[in-house]
Amino acid sequence: MKRLTIAVFFITTFFNGYCQAQRSVSIVPIPVSMEMAKGNFTLNSSSVIEVSSANADAKRVAGFLNKRLSPATGYAVPVRNVSSFSNAPNSIRLSLSNDKTLGDEGYKLNVSAKLVTIIANKPAGLFYGMQSFLQLLPSEIETKTVAKNISWNAPAVSITDYPRFGWRGLMFDVARHFFGKKDIEEYIDQMVRYKFNLLHMHLTDDEGWRIEIKGLPKLTEVGAWNVKKIGYFGSFTPPTPDEPRNFGGFYTQQDIKDIVQYAKERFVDILPEIDVPGHSLAAVVSYPELSCTPGADKYKVRSGEEIMDWSHGAPPIALIDNTLCPANEKVYEFLDKVLTQVAQLFPFEYIHMGGDECPKNFWEKSDAIKSLMQKEGLKTMEEVQSYFEKRLEKIVESKGKKFMGWDEILEGGLAPNAVVMSWRGMDGGIKAAKMGHDVVMSPTTFAYLDYMQGDPIVEPRIYETLRLNKAYQFEPLPEGVDAKHIKGGQANLWSEQVYTLRHAEYMTWPRGMAISESLWSPKEKKNWNDFTNRIEKQFERFDAAEIKYSPSMYDPIFAVSKNADSLYQVKLSTEVNGLDIYYTVDNTFPDRFSPKYTDPITMPKDAAMLRVVTYKGKEQKGRLITIPISELKSRTEMRNND
Ligand code: ACM
Repeated sequence: MKRLTIAVFFITTFFNGYCQAQRSVSIVPIPVSMEMAKGNFTLNSSSVIEVSSANADAKRVAGFLNKRLSPATGYAVPVRNVSSFSNAPNSIRLSLSNDKTLGDEGYKLNVSAKLVTIIANKPAGLFYGMQSFLQLLPSEIETKTVAKNISWNAPAVSITDYPRFGWRGLMFDVARHFFGKKDIEEYIDQMVRYKFNLLHMHLTDDEGWRIEIKGLPKLTEVGAWNVKKIGYFGSFTPPTPDEPRNFGGFYTQQDIKDIVQYAKERFVDILPEIDVPGHSLAAVVSYPELSCTPGADKYKVRSGEEIMDWSHGAPPIALIDNTLCPANEKVYEFLDKVLTQVAQLFPFEYIHMGGDECPKNFWEKSDAIKSLMQKEGLKTMEEVQSYFEKRLEKIVESKGKKFMGWDEILEGGLAPNAVVMSWRGMDGGIKAAKMGHDVVMSPTTFAYLDYMQGDPIVEPRIYETLRLNKAYQFEPLPEGVDAKHIKGGQANLWSEQVYTLRHAEYMTWPRGMAISESLWSPKEKKNWNDFTNRIEKQFERFDAAEIKYSPSMYDPIFAVSKNADSLYQVKLSTEVNGLDIYYTVDNTFPDRFSPKYTDPITMPKDAAMLRVVTYKGKEQKGRLITIPISELKSRTEMRNND
């Protein structure tokens, strides 16, 4: 008997410990409210999904849930459309309700030992409730084939959740590098995990025009193709005439319809961007008569060679004229034709017309621009662009859409109803909101996913660094601004250096998770340490799903100086709590038996390199980073030149 008592004691202790381990909830973005309860729901071979609504979208959500549960568990988890719920145990119930607190995208998720219920006013809310429920299950639920010996437990919990902002976007630049329909669909599948509801497609730029426009065939016959170059975009050797222009691609109108439909089924709107009057080389090459500049017919679609001189700041000096000519009526006819079709293809209420980084140096030389200025009383080149934007707004509105642009459209006078997407920090957005315009915040300071996530010695090189903790500090609603004008925010993935979907994933995650939490969750719920713990659980899910992400948050931050003896001193820190840093200065590979970092490292006089790596306990977390002494030298010189 005594033995039995001891055995029972051990079994229950083990079991409790096991349950404890199962009970951490790591939902991203963090819900509005969440109360843990006792016990676990267990999905098993007799589990069913019941949906008590004839609403086609609600039934589709149930179908999505089935597709997310079935492959890894091997269970059928059939969907049943019921008029009233059965008593089937271990089932998942989806129903529509009318609960004012939830709005159009909120949900209530209740997990008990017997049942899971998801309630929402609209199918979108059911979809987001489903995303949260999936994050309660073991990470193996993400595997595409059956994961054996898993207890498919979800901790009992009661969640009420709804978004802080209605505009929760990611921008994907499909112009610098083209990403086909399948890639876009995969990207949509990834973004909805974190309750993003908008995909902004940057469809045109100097490197490619990516959308079929009927009646303007050269846009895609000529404008969608350049020469494949590998290296550091922006400084490629100019293509020679014999290099094949077969790199790129475009979406047919049927592709666009398919993408829009795919997105809509997942409660994602697609915002199309046609970037004019700058960033328009692909259009100019296709139809040179759209340019103010003689000789534009000799231009070629850019393949990443230098075409701008940024040394004088913004706007850049163009080396070739990549702009549409505001003084040319043909430009407005062209844009009318393009926008008629864009408006028909994309049901979303906004069209983004770019407006950023438009060089003015060729306009300054143009007689046509000079006479336009005289005729219209325009005094500056910014006013010339503003004239263009105001006419463009009228065209966009004539198609039944709202006009949106990057914050440069403020310069020279904002068009009357324009919505501003603030990217050069938040200031443009603040200014526009104070003028009574609607705004979407997507500042470089917090939300540029093309920037490096960690030290430039390991990251694929690009202009700037934006670490995860900085992205997490994104606060879309500045103080003193009327909240009603801040529609929300988005993060932007420019693709100059992004060639593949795998790399797009690396650049997007986990910073996209940080952005999603700023857009969805209450401000007061955000907590960096808690977030990084939850992110680790998301990494396990991504490992199971084979989605790429960046481990940069585990890599140390380096601060280099020289001491009084002219020896390099390196101060190391980490973004994430709980990491130990180990290092070597003797060219060997560090592990957790190497010297542990406590105080700034003084590099021995003749040392050739510093090598560092981070661990959490016995597990290597960061990547091995090697910094040659020459790099330390150039970093101290850079600091001295600051
Ligand atoms: C931008 O990043 N040029 C909008």
